Amino acid sequence: MERVGFIGLGQMGKPMARNLLNAGYSLTVYNRSKPPMEELASHGAKMAGSPSEVGSNSDVVILSLPYPETVKQVVLGTGGVIEGIHPGGVVIDTSTTDPLTARELYEELRKRGVGFLDAPVSGGPEGAEAATLTFMVGGENKDLERCMPILRAMGRHVFHVGGPGAGQGVKLVNQILVAIHTLAAAEAMLFASSLGLDLGMVLEVIQRSAGDSFIFRRVAPQFIARKFGRGWQTYLIHKDLGLVLKTAERLKLPMLLSSLAHEKYGAAITRGLEKIDSAAVIKVLEQLAGLKDTTKTNG
Ligand SMILES: NC(=O)c1ccc[n+]([C@@H]2O[C@H](COP(=O)([O-])OP(=O)(O)OC[C@H]3O[C@@H](n4cnc5c(N)ncnc54)[C@H](OP(=O)(O)O)[C@@H]3O)[C@@H](O)[C@H]2O)c1
Repeated sequence: MERVGFIGLGQMGKPMARNLLNAGYSLTVYNRSKPPMEELASHGAKMAGSPSEVGSNSDVVILSLPYPETVKQVVLGTGGVIEGIHPGGVVIDTSTTDPLTARELYEELRKRGVGFLDAPVSGGPEGAEAATLTFMVGGENKDLERCMPILRAMGRHVFHVGGPGAGQGVKLVNQILVAIHTLAAAEAMLFASSLGLDLGMVLEVIQRSAGDSFIFRRVAPQFIARKFGRGWQTYLIHKDLGLVLKTAERLKLPMLLSSLAHEKYGAAITRGLEKIDSAAVIKVLEQLAGLKDTTKTNG
């Protein structure tokens, strides 16, 4: 069995790492703060003092980190994975970055004889807990075949979508849809609330009408209950839209709705909602309309 390393033990990484322990993998972990490492150590993981130590203890190193810059620093920087991992190893990046970053990592690691898969995920913390994530994988077939049992221990669907960077491309497509749908659902529910409609009734009817969507079903109950939680954090959706816009600029592509959504999630961050679920973007729309807690009154 491969020795696995895991770096970045947040809302996604910690449950993914736990599922690897449950599947019987020998696991070495590293995270910026200690508490999640200690929690996994109590379930049998080894704690490392640096990303390079994770590399030297592992055949396959998995990452779940916030920003492309974090991923590059952790892999290629001083004390990074690249200093420890042996030729023949593989790095799997499950973070959401962008196609250019993924290709750069693939090239740099290849020079050392190390494989790289960009393997961003969909399914959120719930999917990470339940090991039902969807992986969108870019990279070489031989690396994916070798890592397939590891990915299967954390997810239900594994798609090989193309060469290096393709996984991040597909993930950004998903994020465009998630971010804009969430904003659309917020606008629709604000409209319903301002009309004085029974929002529970609206939810029930729309679920059986053409306006229904996975995202509507996810966020409309959050609007009604005014409980947003910390699942799909606003700062990450905003980061993903920033990556979409940066990538689109390179492609000379206008992204009207993504730009608008980027601005609105940015406004949510300014209002202190960065670590709250992105459904809380409805608060930005309410404030723009001069309203307060509209959905609560009709919930
Ligand atoms: N949340 C979702 O719904 C979701 C869904 C799909 C994909 N993703 C993607 O998955 C990635 C992780 O998301 P998340 O929700 O798990 O984020 P998160 O909860 O903010 O966790 C990020 C983790 O990375 C650690 N970290 C940050 N910088 C580090 C460094 N230099 N070295 C080691 N560890 C470091 C943090 O440590 P601290 O404990 O010190 O903060 C934290 O544990 C992101 O790229 C995100 O876009 C998220």
